[in-house]
Amino acid sequence: MKEKRTLMLPGPTPIPKQARLAGAEEIIGHREPECEDLLKEVVDGLKYVFQTTNDVLVLTCSGTGGLEASIANTLSAGDKVLSLCTGAFGERYATIAERYGVDVERINFEWGKAVDVNKVRERLEEDKNNEIKAILMTHNETSTGVVNDPQPIGELADEHDVLLLADAVSSLAGVELKVDEWGVDVAVTSSQKALMSPPGVCLVSVSSKALDAGQEADLPSFYWSFQRAKERYDRNFQTPSTPAIAILYSLRESLRQMKEEGLQEVFNRHQIVTKAIRKAAEAIGLELLVDDEIASTTVTAIQVPDEVEYSTLRQNMKEKYNVYITGSKGELKGKVFRIGHLGNVSRSDILSTISALEMVLKQEGFELKLGVGLEAAQKVFYEEESR
Ligand SMILES: Cc1ncc(COP(=O)(O)O)c(C=O)c1O
Repeated sequence: MKEKRTLMLPGPTPIPKQARLAGAEEIIGHREPECEDLLKEVVDGLKYVFQTTNDVLVLTCSGTGGLEASIANTLSAGDKVLSLCTGAFGERYATIAERYGVDVERINFEWGKAVDVNKVRERLEEDKNNEIKAILMTHNETSTGVVNDPQPIGELADEHDVLLLADAVSSLAGVELKVDEWGVDVAVTSSQKALMSPPGVCLVSVSSKALDAGQEADLPSFYWSFQRAKERYDRNFQTPSTPAIAILYSLRESLRQMKEEGLQEVFNRHQIVTKAIRKAAEAIGLELLVDDEIASTTVTAIQVPDEVEYSTLRQNMKEKYNVYITGSKGELKGKVFRIGHLGNVSRSDILSTISALEMVLKQEGFELKLGVGLEAAQKVFYEEESR
């Protein structure tokens, strides 16, 4: 019998049943008042999760489209930006800006480490002629499982009057992001991660500073234009092009569930499952890529032990136990495996993943006592429940 699929990827993620069913609602015309109500409720729910009063634009694309839009709408060709690269997705953001003819200066950090804010401060202080127009950062570097703190970078951006553009694709709703309080001008996320919805919709919060910068920016955009999207919102809460209505139904339901649970509780839940996975990995004798203080609460990267091949590990997890994990990219390819634990991930998903991992590792010749990881994770959940 085929076992139940346990999707432990850093996106796409499992969708709650009610949100899946909501996606089967009858399709409505996108110029009808019902669709305006749908979009309005989605945007209100998103403002709660982004912790912002900014406009949150709904684009029909995956996260990468939103990252591209954030560049195309705020910058001009030849503008200088600082790109803070802590892994594959930081590198991707820099590459997108380069493709648009932006003058990108990367500050590279070792993969598995977080942004060193002092380096950013030093570089901005050297910029006496105010050539730097924006900072690009990855809030949650999915390739390594590192969280970069936007707050001190937002303070620096404010001090030096530059824009802060943040890739929040794998963080929003799983790692706290206070868009307004921390001064994030553009934050980009997508539906298929911690927002517990199908892939295909990208959500972008845009500050008035970013919209103003857009008035002067000369990079081309039409489908991605924030201005067109905003004008349409302001007129009658519609989108310039046909939105992904079925996905918006699902997203509305997921946002309702998050509101009901409460944002702080959503973050707590992510923190607890992260602790359980990290404690379990350590108990099994595995090495975590990232230190506790900067560890993501949506994805955990674990070193592949010498005795085991990454591809065999992933394959056996999938074929024997129907548990889906993934590897990493670039310099970490084959060296670490990653477990996603964002959105609609339950404690039992975590327990079955750890259990399967132990068995697969043991079968591959890694020495361990079956149950040690499971016990460590159980202890985390048990203690949490007894508090
Ligand atoms: C941090 C980050 N940025 C960007 C992306 C790309 O998103 P998408 O695949 O939705 O275009 C991902 C996807 O995993 C991501 O984790």
